Amino acid sequence: MSATYATTQPAAPGRARRRMHPLPVRIMHWTNVVAMAIMIPSGWGIYNDSVIVHGLHFPEEVRLGAWAAPSLLWHFAGMWLLMANGLAYLAYGIATGRFRERLLPIRVADIVQTVRETLRLHLAHEDLTTYNAVQKLLYIVVILAGISQVVTGLAIWKPVQFSGLVSLLGGFQTARLLHFIGMAVIVGFVVVHVALALLVPRTLAAMVTGGPELAARRDAR
Ligand code: HEM
Repeated sequence: MSATYATTQPAAPGRARRRMHPLPVRIMHWTNVVAMAIMIPSGWGIYNDSVIVHGLHFPEEVRLGAWAAPSLLWHFAGMWLLMANGLAYLAYGIATGRFRERLLPIRVADIVQTVRETLRLHLAHEDLTTYNAVQKLLYIVVILAGISQVVTGLAIWKPVQFSGLVSLLGGFQTARLLHFIGMAVIVGFVVVHVALALLVPRTLAAMVTGGPELAARRDAR
């Protein structure tokens, strides 16, 4: 049986009360924001040295590091933070069942319905405690993109040591291209994600305070 979050039932006696975003999730989410704020603009600084998309250069104002060498130092410093925090988030999400509870199940029919409601401006967001199908999809995509960035990043950082990985990815240039595409997916996600958080500020407050308390899980695991 799948576990469900609900705010309507009181927590069972003796059970620890849980917030919608427990403290570890909030710490890891905001740590990830710092890591991304280092990784993305420093990556742009490195990219400029050998562009992938003809004519696309990132201007100085949006880069971290004046040129490729300092950008690389920032990128290498940030990658440990991104990797350690990402691994902790994955371990937490799997071990506590958070991924299963909050991100699954995800059905195509629900995605279509949410898109329709959004287009008709009928999207309900009274209940912050459950993610709609599009949110679930976007979070799954960005989590997978984060994993892909670490894997492709390792391949292009140490192509000799990780030569097996490089060939699995289709060669060094393909790994580089995949790393670039992963960045574009994450940047696209962040633009939409931050805009939505600002449109529904209660969700932003909840990612700071933890949000409403949740009832006990209906099924015991
Ligand atoms: C300043 C930038 C950001 C803001 C203001 C922000 C805000 C938020 C808010 C308000 C939520 C909760 C949404 C809800 O309850 O409906 C959330 C969740 C989430 N955010 Fe962000 N976010 C930011 C950056 C990022 C970045 C850079 C990523 C990843 C690349 C990210 C990934 C996620 C994920 C995966 C969740 C779901 C977490 C979970 O439930 O386990 N966010 N964010």
